[in-house]
Amino acid sequence: MKTRDSFHSRIGFVLAAAGSAIGLGNIWGFPTQAANNGGGAFLFVYLIVTLLLALPALYAEMYIGNQTQKNPIGALQGVCQEKSAKLGKYGGLVGMSGAIMMLSFYTIVAGWMFAHALSPLAELIGLVDISQWLSTSSTSRNLVFTPIFVLLGAAIIHQGVNAGIEKWSARLMPLLLIMLIALIIYILGQPGAEKGLALYLIPDFSQVTNPKLIISAMGQAFFSLSIGVGGMMVYGSYMEKGKGIGKLVLSITALDTCIAFMAGLLIIPAIFVAQEAGVEVFKNNQLIGEGQLIFNILPQLFNSMGSAGLYVASGFFMLLSIAALTSTISSIEVPVAYLVEDKSYSRGKATWWVSFIVLIASMILIAFFDSLFGLVIRLLTTILQPLSCLFYFIVVGWLWKRGNQLRDVSLQKGSKWLPLWGNYLRYVCPVLLSVVFVNVAFLN
Ligand code: PHE
Repeated sequence: MKTRDSFHSRIGFVLAAAGSAIGLGNIWGFPTQAANNGGGAFLFVYLIVTLLLALPALYAEMYIGNQTQKNPIGALQGVCQEKSAKLGKYGGLVGMSGAIMMLSFYTIVAGWMFAHALSPLAELIGLVDISQWLSTSSTSRNLVFTPIFVLLGAAIIHQGVNAGIEKWSARLMPLLLIMLIALIIYILGQPGAEKGLALYLIPDFSQVTNPKLIISAMGQAFFSLSIGVGGMMVYGSYMEKGKGIGKLVLSITALDTCIAFMAGLLIIPAIFVAQEAGVEVFKNNQLIGEGQLIFNILPQLFNSMGSAGLYVASGFFMLLSIAALTSTISSIEVPVAYLVEDKSYSRGKATWWVSFIVLIASMILIAFFDSLFGLVIRLLTTILQPLSCLFYFIVVGWLWKRGNQLRDVSLQKGSKWLPLWGNYLRYVCPVLLSVVFVNVAFLN
């Protein structure tokens, strides 16, 4: 029998999972959402949702993967066996289609990052027209850079879990952190920054009950932690079974939330600095352009640094591209692991098939960008991911071995607080999540 590939160390696992979590969601998604939804109020709700729902969901997802040591579809099918293996399989397939949805738009945005990383370099060597093309959004740019990104992801996934994912994730995350801190220090010294800081850090509590805000914050939290599409389940399955994942889940959540918070600390003040310098960023209280925020204001910030700005810009966008790459590969791994384990594909064949499907999906999005891009993101983050998480809670709390798997196992082990945690996942989480869902139904 073939042995499964796996992570070689706990730290390798944490870095890979953090690499999945930390990505465009933190630096492109979070600040945009926060700026569009009242700043501090959004941050406040985001933190609460992360703690009450997203962290437990991440735990449930990784726990299922770790206990079963299987790809998400096989895993869910297995643990639902006594109730309905079919239900488990469909649940897994829904998650997998979420991974494809994620990839369809994520590779486009990642392509933007990569183009922005190359644009300053083109300028440095005197290719002004090309630099301009690289930094301006266009269909032609999408058609070039999205496939490049899909290929990069495929190349890493092809190498397998340990050789590919673990090494790549470990290398550049610390650099991103250092660069963020340096940029925050720089921006906070610019005129106008204090307005952004106040908007971001002082919540307007009259807004925290706004259902649209709560739903956006929940979607953002689920997206940011990469939960509900099977990526974290598959990573959990590559970790040695039963070592206890509680602390790991906590550190991944803390790292991811910290990076999102810091991105807000950079981007939201930067919006006001740009505004002070005459850039138009808001129209009717909404940010201009779907997802274009950071591309409107960051170049302004880098320009203000003089000639060093070109290098800083290139470095920053390059790091974002790499962060996007480590997130991309966790999603590609979901269908690839399924095809390899359950359908006996070779890793190479599975990788190319999945890349091909992702490429088609992203091309459809590029062709119908205005109507599909935002829609796919909303469908994934506010409907599919929360529904998947609800399913994980129900699986862990109710379906697995006809009972509360977590509580029963922990009772056997004589642990004190795990039964409490089991009950929290069994009763509180599904109810809380459903309450938010009912709100979604009323909103639409
Ligand atoms: N969490 C990643 C980010 O914040 C995105 C992601 C979502 C990755 C779902 C994998 C699965 O950028």
